[in-house]
This record gives sequence, structure tokens and C-alpha cells, in this order.
Amino acid sequence: MRRALLPAAALAGALTLAGCGTGADSGSSKAELSVSSPYMPRPVSADMAAGFLTITNKGGAKDELTSVTSDVAGRITMHSTVGGAMEEKTSFAIPAHGQLVFKSGGSHLMFENLRHQPEQGQKVTLKLAFAKSEALTVEMPVKSATYNPSTGH
Ligand code: CU
Repeated sequence: MRRALLPAAALAGALTLAGCGTGADSGSSKAELSVSSPYMPRPVSADMAAGFLTITNKGGAKDELTSVTSDVAGRITMHSTVGGAMEEKTSFAIPAHGQLVFKSGGSHLMFENLRHQPEQGQKVTLKLAFAKSEALTVEMPVKSATYNPSTGH
């Protein structure tokens, strides 16, 4: 009878370890998104503005940015820049352990049909929607019209 206890205890230990391993795996197989360096150059046009930000994915699964909305604009489109020409896209991939970067001269957000013209020093609230992850709300500061993030001016 006593000898039967040992295998049972060993089995329980093995199950506990397996449970731990599974938990760790499910954590890293999801996208983990965060947003950094958002900014909008003060728009020089009354009805259009551009916006830039970086989305970092620390998780082990890819995701996709599928839409961007804001109270300040009737519509926000996502553009890539290919050979100097803008191209509207319906989604942008966010690779696992990678980044999606919107920056001046590259991919960017276009705010169309502005309800008001944001002023330097104000903040614009955006909502980012993804294929899998929960939506993120971003406070995007309005900088000078010629702001350059690498110099901070
Ligand atoms: Cu554009």
C-alpha cells in the first residue's frame, strides 16, 4: 500500500509542471501591443492632417491594425508610401516581436474632413482597432507644423 503513494505523488508533480508550461505558452502566443511617440504636425490645411506613431508588439503572435478613428476627423485613412507615392491601405501588419512604424516620409495616418483644426499644444484622441487585440486609445499631441521627432523641434 505505501509503495503505491510514490507514483501518485510523482504524477501530481508532473501535472503541476505541465500546467505551468501551458500557462507560459498561452501568454507568449498573443500579441502584446503598446503605442509610443504619437504626434500630429499642426495641420496647415483646414480639413486635413497627418499623424504618426509607433506600435510595438512584445508578444509572440502577429496582429493587424485594421482601423483608426477620432472625434476630430470624419475619416482617418492609413497610407503607405511606395516610391514617393501614397497608397491607401485597409490594414497594416504588426509582426510578432516587431514594430509598425508610421513616420514622416513613410507610412502615415491621414485625418480627413477635420471637424476643427487642431492647434499646437492640444491633444487629439484616437482609437486604434486591431484584428485580434483589444482596441487602444491614444492621446496624440499636436506639435509644430515642421516638427521633427529626431530633433524634438
Ligand atoms: Cu497620405
